[in-house]
Amino acid sequence: MSTLPHPEAFVRWFRQAAPYVHAFRGRTFVVGFGGELVAERGRFVKFLHDLNLLAALGIRLVLVHGARPQIEAELRAKRQRSRYAKGLRITDAPSLVAVKHAAGFLRVEIEALLSQGLPNSPMAGAQIRVASGNFIAAKPIGVLDGVDFQFTGMVRKVDSAAIARRLEAGEVVLVPHIGYSPTGEVFNLTWEDVAENVARALKADKLLLYVDQLPTGRRGQIISELTAREAETLLKKDGLTAAAARAIEHGLRAVRASVGRVHLLSRRAEGATLLELFTHSGVGTMITADPVERLRQAKIEDIGGILALIEPLEADGTLVKRNRERLEQEISNFEVIEHDGTIRACAALYPYAQEKVAELACLAVAPEYRDAGYGERLLQACEARAKEMKIRRIFALTTRAQHWFLTQSFKEAGVSVLPEQRQTLYNWKRGSKVFLKRL
Ligand SMILES: CC(C)(COP(=O)(O)OP(=O)(O)OC[C@H]1O[C@@H](n2cnc3c(N)ncnc32)[C@H](O)[C@@H]1OP(=O)(O)O)[C@@H](O)C(=O)NCCC(=O)NCCS
Repeated sequence: MSTLPHPEAFVRWFRQAAPYVHAFRGRTFVVGFGGELVAERGRFVKFLHDLNLLAALGIRLVLVHGARPQIEAELRAKRQRSRYAKGLRITDAPSLVAVKHAAGFLRVEIEALLSQGLPNSPMAGAQIRVASGNFIAAKPIGVLDGVDFQFTGMVRKVDSAAIARRLEAGEVVLVPHIGYSPTGEVFNLTWEDVAENVARALKADKLLLYVDQLPTGRRGQIISELTAREAETLLKKDGLTAAAARAIEHGLRAVRASVGRVHLLSRRAEGATLLELFTHSGVGTMITADPVERLRQAKIEDIGGILALIEPLEADGTLVKRNRERLEQEISNFEVIEHDGTIRACAALYPYAQEKVAELACLAVAPEYRDAGYGERLLQACEARAKEMKIRRIFALTTRAQHWFLTQSFKEAGVSVLPEQRQTLYNWKRGSKVFLKRL
């Protein structure tokens, strides 16, 4: 029996990967790649081997491929020339023949390699069934800036129900860069367009796109994570190849629609698929949707976040001290602005129903997010809540933010305007100023 060279490393690796294996079972991944990847035979065989492994782990896989170099080669052999405009092929009638040949050839190649299962492993022969078909309805791009793109098209509709049925049956689905029109015409599409639309139609958990270049930071390091907004900013800068930019554009649309995450991976890096999916740090660039920001009523789980926000303000005397117990009791009085799980701002409203007045208190915005309108939004939310309770006036006590309240249409008032119960609690030593606003 052979012994492992580094058993500790293996155990550590296995422990790291296992949660991902568990989390990915039954999930849908759309994998898009260009014909360039297929053209490098040795690398492509290993790439498909890794995809076979994903399928064997119970991941529902849809593969979308392109065929640009294969179409070029065919046209060259026939001494026909390739014409491009706006980075897209102008598919005339002879090119369309080359497109069909290349797509047919690639389908057979890919099916053959997927049929191998996992060679040189105990799972060799665990054959994976591949389904391909007319899943994509397409329409012509038409004439752009005077250029007729002829048989170059774009996705019109994806038959997601048909794809889902194949996935349900445990098959890997192969979707070429070809679409059909209801009138029986054939269109040549970009694989990025097809991959985006298939992922959107299936509401895929992940869309993996293999590109010639990954986005890099100032020191040349690969950017491992981008929000949709950051990806958008990146697209406005120079420095990306046309192919990488196109992949990012489509990835961005996918993630803004219904796709969980988009991963850009280098088509040249061996094992990139497994490293990206099963290690913490990954090797590619993950694009996520913009984090959602929500203004909502606070919950008991927010107490930690609220305390982190107000404690420094209590320490410097800006806010009156509230301990955890008091927060727990009063949590339903609080509104918070939450951003991707962290509390950025909070405010509380304490109604005095009889007097038809309420106190706005504990208004705090995290220092790094001040002057961005959070304070005003919280005030508006508290005012709306007060109005629902038929409250006519709202007051606040402050030692530091007098002018802010003035800009929000509060007027300075005396302690005598406070409800009696609140007057008895007024801290004369603190000397807060009272501001009042009629709703
Ligand atoms: C007061 C506070 C809640 C304002 O929130 P914010 O989200 O930064 O404010 P907004 O974005 O809604 O409003 C910004 C405007 O108010 C002004 N402003 C902010 N804080 C101010 C202050 N303490 N005094 C005077 N003006 C102030 C800003 O200059 C800005 O004016 P501009 O639009 O003309 O540039 C925030 O500064 C804070 O948390 N302060 C510490 C806690 C505090 O003092 N709370 C009040 C006691 S209950």
